[in-house]
Amino acid sequence: MKVQKVTGYVGATISEVDLATCDDADTYRYIYRVLLENAVVFFRDQELSIERYLEFGRRFGELIRNNSPVIRTMADHPELEIIRKEADAISNIGDEWHTDQSHRPDPCMGTILYAVEVPSHGGDTLFANTAAAYDSLPDDLKQAVRGLRAVHSPEYLLRQTAERTGDPDKLFGSTRATSRPTTHPVVRVHPETGRKVLYVNPAYTENFEGQTPEQSQPLLQRLFSHVQRPEHYCRFRWRKGSLAFWDNRQAWHYAVNDYHGSAREMRRLIVRAPAHEPLAQAV
Ligand code: SIN
Repeated sequence: MKVQKVTGYVGATISEVDLATCDDADTYRYIYRVLLENAVVFFRDQELSIERYLEFGRRFGELIRNNSPVIRTMADHPELEIIRKEADAISNIGDEWHTDQSHRPDPCMGTILYAVEVPSHGGDTLFANTAAAYDSLPDDLKQAVRGLRAVHSPEYLLRQTAERTGDPDKLFGSTRATSRPTTHPVVRVHPETGRKVLYVNPAYTENFEGQTPEQSQPLLQRLFSHVQRPEHYCRFRWRKGSLAFWDNRQAWHYAVNDYHGSAREMRRLIVRAPAHEPLAQAV
């Protein structure tokens, strides 16, 4: 197995491993270690049956359903989501920087995406490392966020989507009433690497706890701009058979919606944090 870093701070491509046949537990432990070190790992040219793909996901934790009424799941496999954009569709899923499930009190550990149909160009996914972003925060910002908690709201995501696409109900309307906001510390300690991470994101975070959006936005926007510095993110170009696995505890991602006229289909698995994981602490 070969590991090649994608950029200085985020992403590693793992090659010379066939996930369709590899059953060696040490190999999967090593993949997980590379994930922890790089926030996201990529594989190319994998030919995975549905069963084999599910098995890959289960090696890293329990697979859970998102319970979104607007995301299709594979027949007989409700934990396997189909993220498809048709050639004539306008909106996609995920075209804002976000961390999966940050609006939940117990967000998932990881997400895995496997490409089954890709456009000839466009449709890349961007990944940012929020631990590297915390490390490089100027001292005044580190001071400013100390002890703060932020509100993560699904309603805010929907409102922003409405403004961006002009047609939110088509994609997201039926999820409107399904979840409530939650709060998380702005700086959390990654439970396995021990690194501090910035845990706010533009899709879900509108304000700090105890502050209005107007009071919160100037500082939030500075944090968001900082995470989006080119040093902190990489861009993944999909091919059929590519697989990405990211650690939501230390990564943002963004699905670029620039391939109108072509279809794109991904199979997605959501991996819950291992049961033994200690709660992330506030600092
Ligand atoms: C997502 O936000 O989970 C979708 C990412 C993608 O389709 O690239």
